[in-house]
Amino acid sequence: MGFRTIEELCAELDEKRASALAGGGEESIAKQKSKGKGTARERIAQLLDPGTFVELDEFVTHRCDNFGLEDRKPLGDGVVAGWGMIDGRKVFVYSQDFTVFGGSLGEKHADKICKVMDMAMQTGCPVIGINDSGGARIQEGTDALNGYGKIFRRNTMASGVIPQFSVIMGPTAGGAVYSPALTDYIFMVDGESIMHITGPEVIRAVTGEAVTSEELGGAETHNTITGDAHFCAKDEAECFAQIRKVLSYLPLNNLDDAPFKPTNDSPERADITLREIVPVNPNKGYDVHEVLKLVLDDGEFTEVQAGFAKNIVIGYGRIGGRSVGIVANNADVMAGCLDINASDKASRFVRHCDAFNLPIVTFVDVPGYLPGKDQEYGGIIRKGAKLLYAYSEASVPLISVIMRKAYGGAYLAMSSKSLGADFVLAWPQAEIAVMGAEGAASVVFKKEIEAADDPSAKRLEKIDEYRAEFANPYKAAERGYVDRVIMPEETRKALCQALGVIESKRESRPAKKHGVIPH
Ligand code: HXC
Repeated sequence: MGFRTIEELCAELDEKRASALAGGGEESIAKQKSKGKGTARERIAQLLDPGTFVELDEFVTHRCDNFGLEDRKPLGDGVVAGWGMIDGRKVFVYSQDFTVFGGSLGEKHADKICKVMDMAMQTGCPVIGINDSGGARIQEGTDALNGYGKIFRRNTMASGVIPQFSVIMGPTAGGAVYSPALTDYIFMVDGESIMHITGPEVIRAVTGEAVTSEELGGAETHNTITGDAHFCAKDEAECFAQIRKVLSYLPLNNLDDAPFKPTNDSPERADITLREIVPVNPNKGYDVHEVLKLVLDDGEFTEVQAGFAKNIVIGYGRIGGRSVGIVANNADVMAGCLDINASDKASRFVRHCDAFNLPIVTFVDVPGYLPGKDQEYGGIIRKGAKLLYAYSEASVPLISVIMRKAYGGAYLAMSSKSLGADFVLAWPQAEIAVMGAEGAASVVFKKEIEAADDPSAKRLEKIDEYRAEFANPYKAAERGYVDRVIMPEETRKALCQALGVIESKRESRPAKKHGVIPH
């Protein structure tokens, strides 16, 4: 009988493992390294807790017989997939191997990705996809396209059920960008990541425009101009640290609780400098990050989309150990007004927090919507409506802190009582009104001002009169639109109390298939 010994069989397995580990071979790996890029497995090892990665499908090969591929069947088919731990919590990962057919996606490559996505959904764990790919594997034709379609559908089904992160560590072109765009967050590395639908050559041929790949789809572009990306890192190590950090605030799935992080930072801590940060003069700017630092546990705030639409700030923090989502107007940029980009940025984040049951704390200082033809033509009506929709739809605890201005439609949009905020806190310098004193006085007292001997003196008098009467939190508090007026330094304690009491909030919504959110 010709049975092989167990040693021979194990040696065969060893050989296959070595072959899978070799990826696209020494030369391609050296080329990858020369660009400062890690290999697919190195990246997974850097992302996960040491020694926790369990690989699946390492011997999968494609079954394409076109264009010479029949003679090239590298084990693993250009993507490394499996699961492991981050801070002791289970996550599924896949990492495209650029050294194998440029990380291009064919039928079996896609099947491997779909398998970990399916397992992540079944087990309620996040999925992190590391993208480094030339896109659809050209030789596989429609099988490759079908592979993308299957991933897109899974991304959509998983949206709001498990956190999905996309890491761009190389080229991502054509329709391949749409899987990342369907996930919660896109992480990019400066000088390494590229995302675009059509590349510079196609653009030059079609429109004559000259643009470099970096200008078109680099990390800076997507983190500052398009808003398509959410995090930018200086290198791969920083990028993985960012991912681990963001995950630390999130539950593993929509039915899980976010991790509680005990802190020695007392809920009673009252920082008197909060009185100085937000100037009483509504025309003066300040950096809202300073407020967040003084209110959140240990001064720690993890910002999302820090470089895009800086007039609004979004991100994560903790209050009394509980994870919260933060939305804050930033008076330092465009006076903190709402525009198209700010509305897009904030509404998506509100929906993300709502999906994963994170309470949302909104810090309000908003003069209104940005006026202008560009804004109107760009769809500020539907974009502004999107923010109204997102807050109204959210069923998580909503707490607002009106620090200063809260005018008109923008006041309503920033998590007002009318949209469903559970607690609205206001500082003594809050001005809650239909519009600012200057505008209001000019409209309401128009005739009186025009008839005066000195109209400009009259106007100033009327502005002061209006401000004294309406530019305060008490009119709104009289009606119950503000639940509590607090000293600025009482904010941390008031938030701890509010979050404590509202923690068990349950709110149902009318049965429907889904709403139609304005976009
Ligand atoms: C098959 C591919 C490939 C692809 C790269 N390779 N992209 N093989 N299908 N899409 C192979 C190359 O032939 C080469 O193989 C190896 O990967 C490394 O590629 P290089 O070109 O040598 O690397 P580099 O110079 O770094 O350039 C990387 C690149 C370039 C910018 C990504 O390869 C490129 O432009 N590729 C084509 C991109 C593209 O047009 N993709 C289709 C997009 S459309 P060898 O054997 O020589 O090492 C799309 C539709 C998706 O994705 C639709 C979804 C709905």
